[in-house]
Amino acid sequence: MSLPRDRGDEHNGARSRGPVMTVVSGGAGNGRAEHRRNAANGDGAAVNPTALAGTLKHHLNVQSNLCAALEQLADALPAEVRNDDCLALARSIYPIVHRSHTFEERELFPYLKAHCPADPELPDTLDRLHGEHWEDEAFAEEVQHELMAFAADRDAVDVEKLGYMLRGFFTGVRRHLAFEREYILPIIEGREKT
Ligand SMILES: [Fe+2]
Repeated sequence: MSLPRDRGDEHNGARSRGPVMTVVSGGAGNGRAEHRRNAANGDGAAVNPTALAGTLKHHLNVQSNLCAALEQLADALPAEVRNDDCLALARSIYPIVHRSHTFEERELFPYLKAHCPADPELPDTLDRLHGEHWEDEAFAEEVQHELMAFAADRDAVDVEKLGYMLRGFFTGVRRHLAFEREYILPIIEGREKT
């Protein structure tokens, strides 16, 4: 298995790599390191929008790669899934999702609230994204648990249900990511020019 190398490239998923599953990482990327150097003071006022945009793209790409790996696993169920691949991917799910949400909730959203008060739709949008974060984290834990159960004893797991669960999870996450890429990211990138 090819393990975590975060190149910030959403197209480095496992689909093009043949039968060996790729697991993605939410590891420390340059964007996050850079962002720490420009850390906010709690209300987003001191954050560099360029660093924020870079960190957001990093997290969007890592989560996109996670979705690609989960889709590949779902397509390979059950016979073509190796236990070690399954376990490694399972263990990566919650940390990747949680790290992304932590960044958005603690740094990105406060920045948007502080700098875009005139956007009438923003408060409701951020509330909705916040709710989706909670739902996705709960779902991530369920998916992680089921994949680990499958790796422990695949005969004890309903494979059809597992596949359905996986597709439900990555479909929802992809929808969330697409919205943030199309709506939130341009706002931040627009701030770079001001
Ligand atoms: Fe999000």
